[in-house]
Order: sequence, then structure tokens, then C-alpha cells
Amino acid sequence: MLGRGCYTGIDAGAWSLKAVTITGRKGAYSLKCAAYMLLPPEAREGEAGPGLLSDFLKSNSIPVSKTAVLMTGHSLMFRHFYLPPMPDKDLREAVKWEIRKEVAMAPADLVSDFVTTSGAPRPDGKLSITAFACVRKEIDSLIAFFRDSGVEVSVIEVIPTSLLASFCLNNDAPKDENNAMLDIGETKSTLAIIRNRSLAFAREISIGGQDFTRAAAMHLKKGTLEAEEYKHGAAPEEARKTFQKSSERLSSELHRSFDYFQAQFREGSVHALYLSGGTALLRGLPEFIADTAGIPVFVDDPLRKLIAKGEGPGGLAPCFSTAVGLALRAAGGA
Ligand SMILES: Nc1ncnc2c1ncn2[C@@H]1O[C@H](COP(=O)(O)OP(=O)(O)OP(=O)(O)O)[C@@H](O)[C@H]1O
Ligand SMILES: [Mg+2]
Repeated sequence: MLGRGCYTGIDAGAWSLKAVTITGRKGAYSLKCAAYMLLPPEAREGEAGPGLLSDFLKSNSIPVSKTAVLMTGHSLMFRHFYLPPMPDKDLREAVKWEIRKEVAMAPADLVSDFVTTSGAPRPDGKLSITAFACVRKEIDSLIAFFRDSGVEVSVIEVIPTSLLASFCLNNDAPKDENNAMLDIGETKSTLAIIRNRSLAFAREISIGGQDFTRAAAMHLKKGTLEAEEYKHGAAPEEARKTFQKSSERLSSELHRSFDYFQAQFREGSVHALYLSGGTALLRGLPEFIADTAGIPVFVDDPLRKLIAKGEGPGGLAPCFSTAVGLALRAAGGA
């Protein structure tokens, strides 16, 4: 379980647990293991207990000494703003200050981090900042949860920066090209727009797989179990009708985000969109988003640079995008 030279990313979601371990050096990483587990229904209601995670890691022989995990949680927020260039220490304070303009919270209760975006230089010389913040209590309980599961957490990331790392491993986008990743999980979707190997925009969209499950349950007039089954196997034409409203809502939020990104940051269009998370596997959804957003849409394959052809988790690959990004962050970068 110690796994010298191994780096693990753990994505403990609301629906499934995902863990990815990589070995090697920057530019030459390879996959050691990728493990996936559906949470039992009772664990989906609340959090998966530490025992469940620890059993999952042990039974899959996942090394846990150098580990990056995901910060999610109700208080997590993403913000974009501009700040004049200044030393890093001052920038940290200025970011906190900007966030506290919006949320009334004592500085000691707030944890924040940020990335600067290498967009087109602004005439006023200001830096474009994407900041992440949450209440300290939530970070503390996250760390306690992983400690109780036997995991030594070295890095805590958010979904957008994990998607960024995964994207950078797998794609060599031309200079100044905007590409987007959308992780569609159970409770929410997270958008990351990436430009010049840095994060240009991040937003959480409160539509996830559970909205599609509800639509299926209403259509069938049955419970969640039957609705889940239907999501996995409905005939394409019928599925299109059942999921039309939820797909439209997701697509229009995506469209609004792209419009905002282009207007606010005077940016060009988004070249392509990569979908990850379990709901990326919903039949017909990638095609629907491609038609409505008018851009090429791909289902992400985050492991393709880490494994030999023909290996790997096959159809579940898009579920691992954030865990791959986390493993890369645990290793120090893509
Ligand atoms: N083959 C499939 N077809 C349709 N939907 C699927 C398929 N596989 C998984 N899903 C859906 O994907 C969702 C779970 O996705 P995922 O495992 O990425 O969520 P999570 O990361 O645990 O949740 P969150 O990110 O919200 O914390 C569920 O709604 C599930 O029904
Ligand atoms: Mg998820």
C-alpha cells in the first residue's frame, strides 16, 4: 500500500468512487491501476463512510502515500476577477479580499486558492484570476474523512484544475485555442475552459445525472431503480424524448457559459468540448450537445496516454477524467 514512486488521485463522488494510480516521471507517466466502485444506495444519501473508501482502496491495492483528493462541498465557489500584478503573498491576500466582498465571513474561516490565466494581455496589465474558496470547516472535515480512511492527503484540488491536468496530458492544443471540458456527474456538472494549458474559466452547473434519473422516473412513473436501468438501456428515439428537457437545460446553461466567457473575457469561440463523468455515457447526450452548441463534442478518454492500446476500463473511461487529473497533481503536474 505504500507504493514508492506511485501517485494516486481519489475522486469520491456522490455516485461512485474512482481511484487512479500512476507511476513514472513528467512526460512519461504510466497507469498502475484504475479502480471504480458504485456506491451502495444507502451511501448515496449521505457521504460514503471512511470504512467504505478504505475497503475500496485496500481491495484494489491502491497506494495511498502520495494522494490528491477532490474538494467539493456546498460552500465551494469559483470566482473570476482581475487584479494588478503584485508579489504572490500579496496576491493571496487580495484574492481573499475580493471573495470576502461577496461572502460575509471572517478571514480565518475562509480557505481560498487561485490560478492566473494566460489569456490575451490586457491593456491595463491586470492579471486574470480564477479563484476557488470554501469554508475552513468543510476542508477540515474532508481531511478528517480521508485520514479516517487511511489516506495521506498531499494535495487538495477542485474539479476544474483536475480536468485541466487531465486535458493537458492528453491534448496538445494549438496556441490561443479555447477548449472546454464538462464533467457531468450525479449531482452537478463542472465546466472548465482551457487555453494555453491554463484554466481560462470555470463554472459549476447545477444539473447532473440525477436530473435525468428524475425525468426517466416521471416518464416511467416508477422509482429510481427502474429509472436508472432505463437510463442505461432505453431505445434511442424514446430516450431522446424522455431526456429532451434535461438535455436542453444543460445545453442552454453551457451556451450561456460560453457566451459569458466570450463577452467578459473578449475571447474567441470554444473549439471543442470534451465530456467526462458518468452522465457523459448517457446515450445520445453528446450528439444532442454537439447539435445545440454547434461545436464538436467528444467523450473524454483520459487514460489513453497512460496505457497500451486495448488495456484499460473500456466504456467507463470518461468516469476517470478527474481522478487522472488528481493523480497528475499528486505527481506534481501533467
Ligand atoms: N452508461 C450510463 N448511461 C447513462 N448514465 C450513466 C451511465 N453510467 C453512469 N451514468 C450516470 O452517471 C451519474 C454518475 O456519474 P459519476 O459517477 O461521474 O458521478 P459522481 O462523480 O459520483 O457524482 P458527483 O460528481 O455529482 O459527485 C449517475 O447519474 C449515473 O446514472
Ligand atoms: Mg464526479
